Amino acid sequence: MVTSSTIEIPTTTSVPQHVAIIMDGNGRWASKRLLPRTAGHARGVQSVRSAVETCGTLGVRYLTLFAFSSENWRRPAEEVSLLMRLFVQALEREVSRLQHQGVRLRVIGDLSAFEPKLQDLIAQAQAKTAHNDQLHLTIAANYGGRWDMLQAMQKMMFANPELGKHPERIDEHALSEHLSMSWAPEPDLFIRTGGEQRVSNFLIWQLAYTELFFTECYWPDFNAEELKKAFEWYRLRERRFGRTSAQVNTLSTR
Ligand code: FPP
Repeated sequence: MVTSSTIEIPTTTSVPQHVAIIMDGNGRWASKRLLPRTAGHARGVQSVRSAVETCGTLGVRYLTLFAFSSENWRRPAEEVSLLMRLFVQALEREVSRLQHQGVRLRVIGDLSAFEPKLQDLIAQAQAKTAHNDQLHLTIAANYGGRWDMLQAMQKMMFANPELGKHPERIDEHALSEHLSMSWAPEPDLFIRTGGEQRVSNFLIWQLAYTELFFTECYWPDFNAEELKKAFEWYRLRERRFGRTSAQVNTLSTR
């Protein structure tokens, strides 16, 4: 069972063990260059590659990327279909590279909304990389934090129907073991590129004590150097988990 930051104080390290990223700013990157928004998404795939490589090299264990939210279906049909094509292409082209790098790929979200070919490719890519353990890469697609909590609640109730009569027995562990990322520790560092400062329904349960880093940099420009800036910012954070600064400092000098 992984640690819950609201139940026990997790062990922290100077390099974040779990990094979660909202890859924002693709459309604006493209518009600034008088290109269609979709060109920004295509270019964004390069930054995904770079983030995976850099995280692997620096010793990050979990990298979670928000690729498509449950609200992104509201975008123009042409943009949605380009994004779907990019996912298909990435799954077809990148899996051998991931294998080589020891990356285990998982996709979380309501995948039933995707066309069968994409669902098959996801299943194949997950199966092919299932034995890797160097870096756990999770792509959130048709994902929403509220959806995640609701599906977890439904699974919990199906698995334990007696909880309907004894709701007082529901605790964090009972629910969190059914969340999409129950196997991963909570993110240490959340990064949002593109200048907006919001969480946009991403991992809302798991971000309870995550350090939040916002940068103006558009996702297609977010290279290894930018990622290292975020890591350096993280390294200097004091993670208190509800304690006072004095308590944290006393512990660290013992
Ligand atoms: C947000 O930028 C970005 C997305 C909704 C899509 C992210 C997708 C990729 C980076 C490419 C594919 C990813 C994988 C994993 C293969 P935006 O369009 O909201 O930008 P804007 O705020 O400037 O309009």
